[in-house]
Amino acid sequence: MIEFFINGQPVQAEDNQTVMQAAKANGFFIPYFCWHPQLSVPGNCRICMVEVTNEGQAEGTGWLEIACNMPISKGMRVLTDSDKVKKRRKETLQFITLNHPVDCGICDKAGECTLQDYHYEYNGSPSVSRDVKVHATKHYPLSDRIVLDNERCIMCTRCVRFTREVSKSNSLGVQSRGDHSLIRPVEDGSFETDPYSDNVIDICPVGALLSRPFLHKARVWYLEPTASVCPGCERGCNVKLWHRKTEWKLKALDPQQNARIDRVTPLENDAVNGPWICNKGRDLAQVFERARAEQAMLKGEAVELQAAIVIAREMIKAARRPVALVSNWGSNEELAAFYGALGPRFACHVKRDWQPAPGERLEDDLLIKPDKNPNSAAALALFPALPADPRTAFPPDTDLVLVWGEGFSFAQLPPKARIIYLNSWLQPENGHADVFLPVSVQTERSGHYTNFQGAVSAFEACFAKKAGVADAETLFGAMGAAS
Ligand code: SF4
Ligand code: SF4
Ligand code: FES
Repeated sequence: MIEFFINGQPVQAEDNQTVMQAAKANGFFIPYFCWHPQLSVPGNCRICMVEVTNEGQAEGTGWLEIACNMPISKGMRVLTDSDKVKKRRKETLQFITLNHPVDCGICDKAGECTLQDYHYEYNGSPSVSRDVKVHATKHYPLSDRIVLDNERCIMCTRCVRFTREVSKSNSLGVQSRGDHSLIRPVEDGSFETDPYSDNVIDICPVGALLSRPFLHKARVWYLEPTASVCPGCERGCNVKLWHRKTEWKLKALDPQQNARIDRVTPLENDAVNGPWICNKGRDLAQVFERARAEQAMLKGEAVELQAAIVIAREMIKAARRPVALVSNWGSNEELAAFYGALGPRFACHVKRDWQPAPGERLEDDLLIKPDKNPNSAAALALFPALPADPRTAFPPDTDLVLVWGEGFSFAQLPPKARIIYLNSWLQPENGHADVFLPVSVQTERSGHYTNFQGAVSAFEACFAKKAGVADAETLFGAMGAAS
């Protein structure tokens, strides 16, 4: 460890740390645009300037240096807010905003933009330039998912470095020089197919890279995040599901707009996904906002939920050779509830609710894993996997099958067995079950998933449960009850 001083206070730091890293680790704030803890250090934005004086050097003889690329040394004295620093920061912001359109009023990044924040904090003055601004492309469609506004770009190159160093698609670059520099995709279309491309939206410090599905849909201060877990594969990336704040509820429009996922962003967790997620995780609204099953049924006839539970309980009691197909989308809590209430009564097998979609990336070295379900690890710790030929899971005298979750063709069930089906989505199989029970989805309840490495992540409810549906945990308890 090395001791040095920030703003007169002694600070301990690792030998190989930079001033920026040591300052962050010790709770001192230094502004930055181009620096990112997971990317290389280009030192191009100059906003992180600090005043440095070496051990033995006289006070007032310090020089200005960028904190993100300055290694610490013993006894060094760093000032993060001296008059010299403040003056240079203000000049740097004047320079960065020289050609910036300052169209924050129509920019989706407003409220989360570090350029906006630093301008208010460290500059606050109008431009001193008398020259007209250099214009650039306002709406460059970088891909089907992302639009680029070159006038807002401050050329920090975070997006370029992300595709080189993290996603490894090498699909973005800088064209031309000086105030004519432009971020552009390479011509082979590889940015379009980069499954991690949307991370550049998060790491762009300004409103230059924006999500096309989210474009002008909501101001971010009307939204709030709920901690959740992506169920798109066994990595179980931690995510934030953003939705409308109750106090900003839309009154005149479709009430469903107040209970929808507006966007999905990563929730940083070093043990699971770091600060990244893949694009599939960004599209979770397409998974959770499918048409829901909200009505209990007996052979397709609508009945009260309670009546359906009573029939299911009787069927379970009467069955002589019951088999259960357990969902690997069930949470740890639901799996434990099933195990406790019904596990001993059934011959249980874990099925895969979701298979890879055609053309979907199966696996890579960053995050994406081949099993496209969130909780196989926890389910398989309790029950064996469904055999490759599912028909072998059913003894000839199977008289009842409980199917929990989607992804299993009823055509593979023994023709004479009665069926209890628990599912959340409106699907044709629902009406074919002897008893159909509609269950809540992940966004309506809290719980945990265990990923392929054994890391346990929590998800919280963000929306009210639909009328007519029940939590699987409650249903298992009711179906396993003595009478
Ligand atoms: S688009 Fe954003 S992330 Fe990329 S260089 Fe410009 S400001 Fe930086
Ligand atoms: S890597 Fe897997 S868990 Fe992570 S965001 Fe993508 S699909 Fe979801
Ligand atoms: S953050 Fe240090 S130069 Fe950009």
